[in-house]
Amino acid sequence: MNYIKNNKLAWEDAFKNRRQGWGENHWERLSNETLPFFNEDMVTELRGIGLEGKRIAQFCCNNGRELLSAMQLRPSFGVGFDIAEDFIEQARQIAAKLGQTNCEFVACNILDIDELYHNSFDFIFFTVGAITWFEDLDLLFEKVGKCLRPHGKLIINDSHPFINMLPLPGEDAYDPEHLSQVAYSYFRKEPWIETNGMSYITPEYHSKTFTSFSHTMSSIVNAIVGAGITIKKLNEYDYDIGLTDDYEGKGFPLSFILLCEKSK
Ligand SMILES: C[S@@+](CC[C@H](N)C(=O)[O-])C[C@H]1O[C@@H](n2cnc3c(N)ncnc32)[C@H](O)[C@@H]1O
Repeated sequence: MNYIKNNKLAWEDAFKNRRQGWGENHWERLSNETLPFFNEDMVTELRGIGLEGKRIAQFCCNNGRELLSAMQLRPSFGVGFDIAEDFIEQARQIAAKLGQTNCEFVACNILDIDELYHNSFDFIFFTVGAITWFEDLDLLFEKVGKCLRPHGKLIINDSHPFINMLPLPGEDAYDPEHLSQVAYSYFRKEPWIETNGMSYITPEYHSKTFTSFSHTMSSIVNAIVGAGITIKKLNEYDYDIGLTDDYEGKGFPLSFILLCEKSK
């Protein structure tokens, strides 16, 4: 899948073009704060599941800050997977600075995670901006299902699919005077193509090409169920978790947490 190879190049290029110092204070926050990098609702869910003594993994972990945060809940071992080698290297450096030895970071495409990790985790999580990088969610959650142990749990905390209908600041269709208007189809099939950097990491620049995909709530749910994973709970929130706060409090669903469990 060429778009995945190109996304790897684009993310690694984004790391090289990161704002000066990006990621360098993460270890301090991880040393001084309780469960940083998670929103309050996610903290509640993580505490509710109870990670102590469990083997956990984050898929698309970027520089590992969220996995390292979850390590505060004393799982027995943690693994972060991400396709971008530079981010994984930064994750290893942050872990070393924290003296965190019971976790590892693996650079690979999620769809190619080694069989070594099959039937291996009690808990897998995805956070904001992760599942959008996969065109075929059936393949993605098939891999999640293989990596979970029986009764292992899965959490996804991501932007709500509804937000894909809303124009974001900087886009032609964005009009701050008309924030109640949707601009794009909920059922959009065409990929999103971006070539102006990754705004939370880099300044705007002429970047390599990022390709991502819209997914409806039903396509997410059906792919999970198709992988033999049971949906336990879906919560929807009217707050944004990473794109823009312009639409907050307007009655739109902007983010969600989905809690699931592998049946057997
Ligand atoms: C927006 S980040 C999400 C992670 C984290 N929540 C964050 O805020 O940084 C998306 C991550 O997905 C990774 N990624 C994209 N496609 C991937 C793939 N096929 N396999 C593994 N990681 C992938 C990118 O390298 C990037 O670090």
